Amino acid sequence: MKVLISRNIPDTTAVRLMEEGFEVITAEKGKIWTSEELTKTCQNVDFLLHRGGTALDANFFQNCSHLKGIALTSVGYNHVDITAATKACIPISNTPDVLSEATADIALLLMLTVSRKAFFRANQIIRGEWQGLGSTDDLGVELYGKTLGIFGLGRIGLALARRAKVIYGMDIIYYNRHRNVEAEREVDAVYVSFDKLLEKSDVISIHANLSSETKDRFNATAFKKMKKSAIFINTARGKIHNEVDLTEALVNGDIWGAGLDVTNPEPMLPSNPLLSMSNVCVLPHIGSATVETRTKMTLMAVNNLIAVKNGKKMPQVVNA
Ligand code: DGY
Repeated sequence: MKVLISRNIPDTTAVRLMEEGFEVITAEKGKIWTSEELTKTCQNVDFLLHRGGTALDANFFQNCSHLKGIALTSVGYNHVDITAATKACIPISNTPDVLSEATADIALLLMLTVSRKAFFRANQIIRGEWQGLGSTDDLGVELYGKTLGIFGLGRIGLALARRAKVIYGMDIIYYNRHRNVEAEREVDAVYVSFDKLLEKSDVISIHANLSSETKDRFNATAFKKMKKSAIFINTARGKIHNEVDLTEALVNGDIWGAGLDVTNPEPMLPSNPLLSMSNVCVLPHIGSATVETRTKMTLMAVNNLIAVKNGKKMPQVVNA
């Protein structure tokens, strides 16, 4: 049984696959696959262990219907045509839960660095532009006691809400497709309509999947309804906000600042005006990028492949 690992993973997880009798084919470090290359290489394997980057579309599944299972090392699977995978009878797994704490940390980091303009300030020192700060020049704002609005209160949203509540005494409001009673009980989160979330939040943090319902949800209309003092944080998927509208909202002062770990496209072009704004911090999609979390994610993916090889259902299957 051969498995293609399309992006580098920790050595320990590749060893685990070999112990289970898989023949492992590993991509060269940093390889970015075209769809054609990935489809061609998959002709010679039985399983695929895959991260984001190259989309697995209907064409891929048509040409790779022999695959016995695909384990994703990501919680999001918007880059995979799940309907086409199901039609080809290929089980797909993802990695829920294990990246919630690491991603919530990045959301909090963005909240802090944007509210205090810390990233911009640090870069002023690096560029030799810091002349000393006058007492009222370009000040930051505080998070303590403010209202955090969470769009999509699942596992990651709740991990952020705990931090915001305990460390910063923030009030938590949220908008979700369904009410999250656990969160309401644990962090006193209050369920509100989407418009109320926009109107009442001092910080809005996105923790929803990308879907037809959430794509471009944060657009000019939404930004106009937010407080002029609001900070917008997105660590979920770049297509949930409209980048042109976000840029205009920041330039026009419709909102106060933004922190992004996800952009559209990724990587963001160096010429993007957002990158030179003092009230914006953009990170290169590092929500899950810790040794601990990436190890847990790849081990989870590996266990899903082992399950299929042993004739069992993938524990984290997304297309049951
Ligand atoms: C995910 O797992 O979906 C995160 O965005 C990390 O890639």
